[in-house]
Amino acid sequence: MPVYHIKQTPALQGEVHIDVAKNAVLPIIAASLLCSSPVTIRRVPHFTDIDSMLSVLSSCGAAIKRESDSVTISPAALHTPENAAPFHLLRASILVLGPLCARLQEGSVPLPGGCAIGQRPIDIHLKGLRAMGMTTTIESNQVAFQGHIKNANIYLDFPSVGATENLLMAAVLTKGVTRIENAAKEPEIVDLADFLCLAGARIWGAGTGTIVIDGVDRLTGVEFTPIPDRIEAGTLACASAITDGSIFLAGARPDHMRSLLHKLRESGMIIQEDARGLYLRGRARRAFDVHTLSYPGFPTDLQAPMMTVACQTRGQSIFMETIFENRYMHAVSLCRMGASIRTEGRLALVQGGQALIGATVEATDLRAGAALMLAGLIAQGETLLLDKRSHIARGYDGLERKLNALGACIQCEHASVTSPVLTK
Ligand code: EPZ
Repeated sequence: MPVYHIKQTPALQGEVHIDVAKNAVLPIIAASLLCSSPVTIRRVPHFTDIDSMLSVLSSCGAAIKRESDSVTISPAALHTPENAAPFHLLRASILVLGPLCARLQEGSVPLPGGCAIGQRPIDIHLKGLRAMGMTTTIESNQVAFQGHIKNANIYLDFPSVGATENLLMAAVLTKGVTRIENAAKEPEIVDLADFLCLAGARIWGAGTGTIVIDGVDRLTGVEFTPIPDRIEAGTLACASAITDGSIFLAGARPDHMRSLLHKLRESGMIIQEDARGLYLRGRARRAFDVHTLSYPGFPTDLQAPMMTVACQTRGQSIFMETIFENRYMHAVSLCRMGASIRTEGRLALVQGGQALIGATVEATDLRAGAALMLAGLIAQGETLLLDKRSHIARGYDGLERKLNALGACIQCEHASVTSPVLTK
């Protein structure tokens, strides 16, 4: 179990490179199952959700080859999953459902896992597949599917990212025109569509609320480099904001981060954009309000890091978390460190300006863990961040390593549950 020893840090300084996006790589790995020849994905970071997703694909019969930072997937002998274990490790495992419905007439997929930030049902995924002619039933922790998939006009009751991705993948090999209305518009959806079109798919409107797909007979394997991770970039931007830093995020895409950049500028940071990335200087001083929404609204995945920023600003910040119903678990730990935060359902009020004091706190989910690592940078003394389920390593390829490269002082110790650090 990783235990992070985090010391109070002076202003972060320097340049750091942004990795390829976790939430772009995962659906593209799933989409490889649709191709008739090997797919190579470049610059794949080393975090555990990727390893888990590759295990999911192996259990569906795909051959996987990982060489330094690229992954080659050969989807020849596709079959319904044999081993349920990897599916429970992450939410994105459900993204093999669309490709399997497109290529097999029947089968079953274990229900997914993922951060405990809400109930996270898959009803929108299944409603869309049923509109495409599939019969789906949930039994003994599996989704069973059967039928011959056909084109359809689909309306999503909520612009679910995963449901949009699953239905887009289900439609690309399905004869005829499929329309997905009220689709999610995230950059990761556009990247998935770019990958599929490079492989021969015919897709229009990705990134808008209406996606139109004209099914083709086959997709060929391609080489592809996904987009940079706007959430990693946003997390590092928040770290700079609380330490009065001066950093450069190489490879960041400002056009994917508009809502965050507006908020940080509103709070007093100086941010310059250029073709290579983002320069951020100064502290976030003024309080701000955060209302999480589907893209291009403020991303729910940066709500927790921004709450740490709000703790350091003058005045009261109001947070409204509209995407997940249980995404304030980090507030409890921030209060243990001296923050003044009141949460009531989807609402959180943060009274800024309270000094944070180092404490022993626990990562409850991926982004909460990142928010607490950031809080340790500004807390007096030392903060001990226990990550009992290795949440942080699921979605960041060495967040502490990148922060240390900018001047932080974070030591990661792999402790056993009987380690003295946990028993004192
Ligand atoms: C993706 O999750 C991301 N994960 C999440 O990132 C991100 O927070 C989320 O999109 C929203 O942007 C990946 O891409 C792997 P949703 P996903 O379907 O697809 C409800 C991270 O930290 N819903 O858009 O699961 C759902 O319960 C992770 O990197 C249904 O009710 O998100 C939630 O309240 C966390 N029924 C809301 O919609 C459904 O069938 C948004 O879910 C599907 C979703």
